[in-house]
Amino acid sequence: MPFPTHRPRRLRGDARLRALVRETTLSPGDLIAPLFIREGAGVRNEISSMPGQYHLSPDTLVEEGKALHDAGVAGVILFGLPDKKDSKAGGAYAEAGIVQKGLRALAKNVPGLLRMADVCLCEYMDHGHCGILQEKGRGGEPEVLNDASLPLLAKTAVSLARAGADVVAPSDMMDGRVEAIRNGLDDAGLDQTPILSYAAKYASAFYGPFRDAAGSAPQMGDRRGYQMDPANGDEAIAECDLDVEEGADMLMVKPALPYLDIVRRVKDEFGLPLGAYHVSGEYAMIVAAAERGWLDRERTVLESLVSIRRAGADFILTYFAREAAGYLSK
Ligand code: PBG
Repeated sequence: MPFPTHRPRRLRGDARLRALVRETTLSPGDLIAPLFIREGAGVRNEISSMPGQYHLSPDTLVEEGKALHDAGVAGVILFGLPDKKDSKAGGAYAEAGIVQKGLRALAKNVPGLLRMADVCLCEYMDHGHCGILQEKGRGGEPEVLNDASLPLLAKTAVSLARAGADVVAPSDMMDGRVEAIRNGLDDAGLDQTPILSYAAKYASAFYGPFRDAAGSAPQMGDRRGYQMDPANGDEAIAECDLDVEEGADMLMVKPALPYLDIVRRVKDEFGLPLGAYHVSGEYAMIVAAAERGWLDRERTVLESLVSIRRAGADFILTYFAREAAGYLSK
């Protein structure tokens, strides 16, 4: 029996009832803050394409980590800006690598904060690609060599776990990398280190501000030879399937808001914890529109994050982590 028997508004007029029937929760403990770390001391340089986000040195990283932990944010994921880049991504797996330093500093000073480490080579390669590059590959285009890149990714994951990463998160999109990393970790006695796989990672324009922030834009070509085509949905399921078989403990979809259908499909299909990465471009859009007075920043941030949770994400990697934690504790 429709109206007037049914009046959905009956449950909307009273804040106490709205709270009672709210289906989705959002709390600081659902959030992971991506942070950028470089060498030095006392560094806190604002990233121009991402106002409110900073390049940090190990000491200021610890300060930021403490503030995040105090705000109830679940953890961080670290990205490194090495002093030197080369053609073998040496900085990614160096004992004294910048992310390794950051992990050790956080483990020592803010042990309660979960430490994730992004596993990728692009920030450490002079050409900015996510693996070993052959300048003239298929069709005369630069090509990232899949199998040759796997040992470097495994080595990087082991190095990061040894330095204190609680979770390693491969974002390179090479085929077979989860298996290579799992084997590498197990052989190193790190069988308890979980892998959060960026399983469905799209070749997205929304990574633009990040590439400025991390200095990881490809010097030639683009990432469409390894990241997914935004037009594909079934392929995301196939990618997740492979990663689950190879030993992924958690899955991720990236970016988040333009891919909420994928978040939902992956959540329904796989019984694994799911993360979604609310990426740099999604951050920059809200910040820019709010600066112009076109959007209400607080409401837009919270609506975006609760929508990602509603779509099926268990946790969200977002540059708004600290800010949102502040709103949520009000
Ligand atoms: C590394 C990596 C990227 C991001 C996370 N890990 C960049 C890329 O693939 O080009 C993007 C994150 C963001 O935009 O916030 N491969």
